[in-house]
Amino acid sequence: MKKKLIAGNWKMNGSLAANEALLKALLAGVGQPACQVAVCVPAVYLAQCQALLAGGVIELGAQDVSAHESGAYTGEIAPAMLKEFGARYVIVGHSERRQYHGETDELVAAKAQRALSAGITPIVCVGETLAEREAGHTEEVVKRQLAAVIHTNGHCISEVVVAYEPVWAIGTGLSATAEQAQQVHAVLRAQLKAASPNADRIPLLYGGSMNAANAKSLLAQADIDGGLIGGAALKAPDFLTIIAAAS
Ligand code: 13P
Repeated sequence: MKKKLIAGNWKMNGSLAANEALLKALLAGVGQPACQVAVCVPAVYLAQCQALLAGGVIELGAQDVSAHESGAYTGEIAPAMLKEFGARYVIVGHSERRQYHGETDELVAAKAQRALSAGITPIVCVGETLAEREAGHTEEVVKRQLAAVIHTNGHCISEVVVAYEPVWAIGTGLSATAEQAQQVHAVLRAQLKAASPNADRIPLLYGGSMNAANAKSLLAQADIDGGLIGGAALKAPDFLTIIAAAS
């Protein structure tokens, strides 16, 4: 059985002192987990977190990356730069970036491609809004978002991680039920299978108010291979409980 992946998305939270306290608590409590564990931190803290996590079982990730290799793109961060600071993963296409920064399906696909070419695994986020769900468009939306990434990345698609994050469940405390999540994951798995013979090994994460209480039932679903966790990843006991639920 493939190992599950539990990844924290710290979003725009943290400080030198808070990061150190959180990572020390995680390292002290994590032991030898049977799942993979990562934290996706604000880029300015990559060096600090790289040093704190060195030699341990928790891997490092970033939250966004440029679609360009280098050059005159003020404020952007190249994948090779993330790689230098130990990033194994980078989140691309989070709904907060689609919503607040106007990121399109095509841009998200280009970012995933650029990350892959630098040897970083993109965690590609897809998910519908509440209005889209209520209109019965959930499948159509997530398939469109994933199709762009499949189209751009071709056979490399088996190297990505996909996260289903229903927008209405993010930061609301209102998680999708295990059945709702599994239903969408099955759709994504079928779409990936049609694109790649290696689709079974692509980790499909669920994100959206995953917490210490609901992680076990979500992670028990056939096509849920892990979690992308926001708020609960900032509290060491909660994140450790989720890691234990995946182990
Ligand atoms: P919450 O776990 O805070 O709902 O955030 C989920 C998320 O957006 C992870 O990327």
